[in-house]
Amino acid sequence: MITLLKLGGSVLTDKSKPYTARHDEIKRLAKEVREAMEKEPDMKLIIGNGGGSFPHQPAKAGNLKEGIKDAWQLEHLVETQRAASELNHLLVETLIAEGVPAFAFQPSSAGYTESRKIKEFNMHGIHELLKLGAVPVVHGDVMLDLAQGCSIASTESIFAFLSKEMKTRRIVIGTNVEGVLDSGGKVFSHITNKNFESMKHHLGGSAATDVTGGMLHKVESMLELSALGHEVFIVNATVPGNVKRALLGEWIGTKITNS
Ligand SMILES: Nc1ncnc2c1ncn2[C@@H]1O[C@H](COP(=O)(O)OP(=O)(O)O)[C@@H](O)[C@H]1O
Ligand SMILES: [Mg+2]
Repeated sequence: MITLLKLGGSVLTDKSKPYTARHDEIKRLAKEVREAMEKEPDMKLIIGNGGGSFPHQPAKAGNLKEGIKDAWQLEHLVETQRAASELNHLLVETLIAEGVPAFAFQPSSAGYTESRKIKEFNMHGIHELLKLGAVPVVHGDVMLDLAQGCSIASTESIFAFLSKEMKTRRIVIGTNVEGVLDSGGKVFSHITNKNFESMKHHLGGSAATDVTGGMLHKVESMLELSALGHEVFIVNATVPGNVKRALLGEWIGTKITNS
């Protein structure tokens, strides 16, 4: 059974400053991943990193979510891919230095979308890596799109695709808030398909530049999957220890299940 871990761009980077990585945080998180894997040696892990202040700005400047219609967008397309892979590279490098056998797996070349939906993704490659004991590291990325030239795939939508293709046990979404919060700042500890409608109005987009859009997108994409039977945790990855504990199955932050 497979565990998916998202490390949000809000944690890995300073979203208010273009191209600013938080090197100390990346190092701390890499260490937590290594410690969790040591504690549970059978864990099969796939990591996905958000883009934070690397690809979100060029993706927005080029309006790439809507695809490519004009030649002026091309420079933003190539910069978005480059910037997303720069942050991914930094994370992979740090994971390897910490002793995690991380292997960069870039959605922009591992598959393609059609009308923004992932149509093809190199699952054979993912399976082979897991068999070898490696940790594939995917990320939010620009993907080539059969209908509109390109589209933006969030880490959450890539995780949604992966979870439909393989047996996922647990998904941990690390971000910069304690979980899903109500208007008063209190954590909703459990969201299900039954109670979601009553709390949906509390959820919004991102406070920062984030073309894939904040908490509502996370919860909606994860609820869509919850019928598959796994558990999802949204945790504050800026708090030391949370990612390790959540990887090992502790209920921290908001849990999302089908019922
Ligand atoms: N109800 C809510 N609870 C928590 N966060 C929310 C809520 N509504 C909107 N948000 C925003 O969602 C952000 C997390 O999403 P996002 O910025 O996309 O993070 P990441 O970079 O980790 O993907 C929070 O920092 C907050 O600004
Ligand atoms: Mg986001």
